Amino acid sequence: MTDQPTVALLGTGTMGAGMARNIAAAGFPLRVWNRTHEKAEPLADVATVADEVTDAVAGADIVLTMLFDVDAVVAVMEEARGHLADDAVWLQQSTVGVAGAERLAKLAEELGVTYVDAPVLGTKKPAEDGALVVLASGPEQARERVDRVLEAIGSKTLWVGEAGAGSRLKLAANAWVFTVVEGVAESLALTRDLGLDPALFLQAVEGGALDAPYVQLKGKAMLQESFEPAFGLAGALKDTDLILEAARGAGLELGVLPGIRDHFARAVEAGHGEEDMSATWREH
Ligand SMILES: NC(=O)c1ccc[n+]([C@@H]2O[C@H](COP(=O)([O-])OP(=O)(O)OC[C@H]3O[C@@H](n4cnc5c(N)ncnc54)[C@H](OP(=O)(O)O)[C@@H]3O)[C@@H](O)[C@H]2O)c1
Repeated sequence: MTDQPTVALLGTGTMGAGMARNIAAAGFPLRVWNRTHEKAEPLADVATVADEVTDAVAGADIVLTMLFDVDAVVAVMEEARGHLADDAVWLQQSTVGVAGAERLAKLAEELGVTYVDAPVLGTKKPAEDGALVVLASGPEQARERVDRVLEAIGSKTLWVGEAGAGSRLKLAANAWVFTVVEGVAESLALTRDLGLDPALFLQAVEGGALDAPYVQLKGKAMLQESFEPAFGLAGALKDTDLILEAARGAGLELGVLPGIRDHFARAVEAGHGEEDMSATWREH
């Protein structure tokens, strides 16, 4: 399929690896790069694994970043400086928050590339299944250039406005994710500390209006102490800070998120940052 645009995907972590497989499966010529090279090597059956960022991005039509935070994105795109195609689209999908998205928009201007801010909802499994929800934002003329890539990685794309709007909606969605996870942990802890089997809480809400797939998924993971990362705790702490910063900037006082942040921070300090965010349960 030689008419397909070439994609360079930078960052083959928990999310990027699954996204890469789906982009390759959709027929796009794909190059991947990861700071820790060995983590990109398993993708060699579907992509060219580049040693350097510059090799990955040279001549690529679409440069997709899926890195930990805004500093990582800036560092990697600075390496790409001078090697990007003039008409490249930068599809920025890492979670970087409001100020981060603005910083990257400025960098895109300096680099002379079209900037699409398109964070995603969904964790490791939806990334592997091509079932992410993409919160895309950016100039109208970039949409048709990236739409087929977004179709490959997601079940749904919402175009929500000018570049940066996607990152704002992403924060609101993550505030909900963290509220559910921490809320489940607290109700399990309450059930246990009031002298009952904590599993009874999950049974009580199961199948009713108060249930959600996430309640059962994360609740069971907590009770089984099964914390294989789907959404890592260190990343969740990073995102709670982005939410709190954005809320402060908007003059909004949040009641729930500050407490969640404290629990996440304690669990990270206790050495659980590499585990799934449901490991916040360890602090209850
Ligand atoms: N996991 C989720 O459920 C989820 C859901 C939606 C959005 N997100 C967002 O998606 C992004 C990626 O998340 P993830 O879960 O895939 O994270 P991850 O597994 O921790 O992977 C992070 C990636 O960033 C790279 N990285 C970190 N610091 C770097 C630096 N200074 N320079 C270059 N590369 C650096 C890592 O490289 P190394 O391999 O060398 O460490 C790795 O490729 C994050 O912004 C996250 O908030 C995650």
